Amino acid sequence: MKKAFITGINGQDGSYLAEHLLAMDFEVGGLIRRSSVSENQTYRINHLFKNGIKTYYGDIIDKSSIEKALSDFKPDYLFNLAAQSHVRLSFDMPFFTTQVNSIGALNVFDTIKDKFPNIKVYQASSSEMFGRSIDVDKYQRETTPMHPVSPYGCSKLYAYSIARNYRKAYGLFISNGILFNHESPRRGRNFVTTKVIEGALKIKYGKKEKLEMGNLDSFRDWGHSSDYTKAMLKLLIHSEAEDIVISSGEAHSVRELCNIVFKKLNMNYKDHIILNKRYLRPEELPYLRGDSKKGKEILNWKPSYTFEKLLEEMINHFEKDFI
Ligand code: NAP
Ligand code: GDD
Repeated sequence: MKKAFITGINGQDGSYLAEHLLAMDFEVGGLIRRSSVSENQTYRINHLFKNGIKTYYGDIIDKSSIEKALSDFKPDYLFNLAAQSHVRLSFDMPFFTTQVNSIGALNVFDTIKDKFPNIKVYQASSSEMFGRSIDVDKYQRETTPMHPVSPYGCSKLYAYSIARNYRKAYGLFISNGILFNHESPRRGRNFVTTKVIEGALKIKYGKKEKLEMGNLDSFRDWGHSSDYTKAMLKLLIHSEAEDIVISSGEAHSVRELCNIVFKKLNMNYKDHIILNKRYLRPEELPYLRGDSKKGKEILNWKPSYTFEKLLEEMINHFEKDFI
């Protein structure tokens, strides 16, 4: 039985990945941070404890906690998903974001180098690393230059680069999945998809009149976390360490997202959405659209969700709380 360890196991992606791994008969372990409200902390993975997942208290800022957990669990694969993953908040907390996303990742890779060189490692890299770079055909891909425009993007670019450096310098198996935005019913409530869907539902059911938003004119390439975490697994069981883009290949604006969601609930977004400058970013990334040709060819991966199907699943999920 193969063993896989996930940092960030209780996050959106960690929970779907743990499900896929269990379905493929992996033994699954993961790192959980100490929280003063421990009862809420594992809500995304509570249904998995009956399958024997094993969690360890730790923090990727604390190298000794990574080492202790790995010494005990002895995984074959490690997925480094732990991060301060909110882009706008990274402007409020640039030092913390860098500490976790950059130094935390280095802690993981350095522990692997010194103590567990046979573990295969997945690093959760991000399309936010591209910043404003875009190829002439209006796609971003593995070869597109990376010029991030947020502390989050910069922190992830460091982790991506040191992953490649450790791979080459020390012969380690570390792969970067460069994932574009992916969502699900388990997405955190302050990301734009969940925020728009919950906001629209509150308006429909008379709990709220207006929804305060930031920039509606940026474009994102949105997919489903369940599809994208399957690609993570395919990337680590692939024979070679690689850097691979995972995306839907479609760009939609935030305005279009609002339009579709409000329309599905028989409303017009223009009647309800107002600008609150608080949700604007000091520097915005205007356009993301990924070309995942390499991933499709090498990993034989393809997404099963369309943008509309993703939004429908999220709306149906959150609407249950209102009916
Ligand atoms: P998420 O829901 O925010 O989950 C992040 C996880 O990291 C949580 O379990 C969190 O635990 C944990 N964590 C944060 N800081 C930690 C620390 N110092 N030590 C240990 N654990 C820590 O994010 P996600 O959407 O699942 O994304 C997973 C990874 O993929 C992240 O690295 C993210 O940056 C990256 N990524 C995401 C997307 C996307 O669109 N979702 C796209 C590209 C890349 P707590 O619950 O304790 O905070
Ligand atoms: N969160 C949020 N809240 N975003 C808003 C709002 C708002 O009120 N109003 C407009 N937006 C716009 C943002 O400015 C951005 O252009 C877009 O909606 C998407 O924002 P998020 O959902 O917060 O995601 P993100 O693109 O910044 O970052 C996500 O994707 C990255 C991959 O590209 C995160 O999951 C990152 O962790 C991930 O790496």
